Amino acid sequence: MEQVRELAHALKKAQHAVVLTGAGASTESGLPDFRSKTGLWKGIDPVSLISLSALRRRPVEFYQFYRMRFSHLWGARPNPVHRVLAALQEEGMVKRLITQNVDGLHQAAGSPDVIELHGSLRECSCLTCGRTFPSRLIDVDVKTAADIPRCPECGGMLKPGVVLFEEPLPPDAIETAFDEARRADLFLVIGSSLEVGPANQLPLLAVQSGADLAILNLTPTYLDGHARWVIREKAGQVLTAVASELGILPRVE
Ligand code: APR
Repeated sequence: MEQVRELAHALKKAQHAVVLTGAGASTESGLPDFRSKTGLWKGIDPVSLISLSALRRRPVEFYQFYRMRFSHLWGARPNPVHRVLAALQEEGMVKRLITQNVDGLHQAAGSPDVIELHGSLRECSCLTCGRTFPSRLIDVDVKTAADIPRCPECGGMLKPGVVLFEEPLPPDAIETAFDEARRADLFLVIGSSLEVGPANQLPLLAVQSGADLAILNLTPTYLDGHARWVIREKAGQVLTAVASELGILPRVE
């Protein structure tokens, strides 16, 4: 496909290509995204369920929803999207990878220095003392208030390591991500509806700083009109074709 050839050529030519991924990068690993027809947020108001105030006010309901909706992530493995991006980083054709995802699949595929804007499922932290712990401390079946996971140090309530609604994003991750968007001469959005800020400002900032924009997403986004390439195919297939165009063989696990 002509767009694949052009995108492969642009990656080869770019001095500082930056990638932003969303949940659509992990659907081919069997993980549902949030806002498409089969998304996690279908039919519910996530802010009322997976926000800081929901955790404080209704911790049992919060943890039951969290475990039901996120526990499927544990067994997921990287798919071609993650593997090709890791290979492009290894070749130096992608300089930085920014993700909204919390599933750790980019790291599992070998991507270095991933900027995780929305935290990660690997950890949890205490709402009272702020200490962080491995996420296995919150991987419990919460039936009553007595089951709510507590901080082993101070007894405060534990929260997942993912950024909840009403929580600020990690400041250093955000700052680095905005710096990378300003430096980019090529910016790729892969599998994101670009409906959530501030992540959805990064591609616009890149375009305003002179970068070419490519959007690999199955459904329209608010920035399609600013993109040099909009490819509405499964990102795994597109990136596999880009890799073969570049003669790159991603590491298969
Ligand atoms: N290839 C390309 N695009 C895909 C694929 C695929 N295989 N699968 C899904 N998509 C697209 C969908 O069409 C959708 O537009 O990926 C996009 C995923 O969008 P969202 O579900 O909104 O996920 P995301 O953009 O990552 O959401 C951002 O919202 O709820 C918060 O914290 C959560 O990080 C998340 C943030």
